[in-house]
Amino acid sequence: MRIDKFLVSQGVGTRREVQQLVKNGSVKVNDIAVKKPNAKVIPEKDVIFVNGKKISYMKNIYIVMNKPAGVISATEDKSERTVIDILPDNLKRKDLFPAGRLDKDTTGLLIITDDGDFAHRILSPKKHVNKRYLAVLSGDVTDEMIVNFKNGIKFNDGTLCKPAKLTVQDNRSIAEVVISEGKFHQVKKMFITQGLEVLKLKRLQIGGFVLPSELCEGDCRLMSEDEIVGIFS
Ligand code: URA
Repeated sequence: MRIDKFLVSQGVGTRREVQQLVKNGSVKVNDIAVKKPNAKVIPEKDVIFVNGKKISYMKNIYIVMNKPAGVISATEDKSERTVIDILPDNLKRKDLFPAGRLDKDTTGLLIITDDGDFAHRILSPKKHVNKRYLAVLSGDVTDEMIVNFKNGIKFNDGTLCKPAKLTVQDNRSIAEVVISEGKFHQVKKMFITQGLEVLKLKRLQIGGFVLPSELCEGDCRLMSEDEIVGIFS
């Protein structure tokens, strides 16, 4: 693979930026500075440094986004802006898709990747990867509701949800919900069965990975290997 293409694929910068880095002599391959952007590297084998920082090779890409309201969790759409449309240019590449869906008005943690197996692992109910949400509700959560969530909510059409953990603090109209599956509009529908409307919904956590506090709505960045592994631990 060309060194410039490799560096773009690892999120080091745009094609133009990495070409400049190469020309400046900031890129070393196996301890030797390469000055030509079309120099070839073998990502699995060569040791590549940029400005003294080792670039660990990741075959797939994993982006964490704090999804803003108003964009849809799809790869493309004729009329709506998608989470792929709002990626910055240096993170855009082919085959990216959101690993799971958040509603248009839901904000928070969304992972965008080109790794289908990974998406299956975090989405399949059989893998038990919990998702934690913060919900602002139209009324107060009662103790009975907490028990109902724990026992498994039944939608009006008879669909049974797995047990979910519902917690509230002093303000009982703001709740956290942990679910381990991802039925369509699941959290909103669970509260509707209890006579409450979800006014705002934000995803805070997937598995062991919490939405990074430095990411404002609309921001995104590459995830580290540790963060990806941390989802499943
Ligand atoms: N549950 C919902 O109702 N909406 C979301 O966006 C995510 C979970």
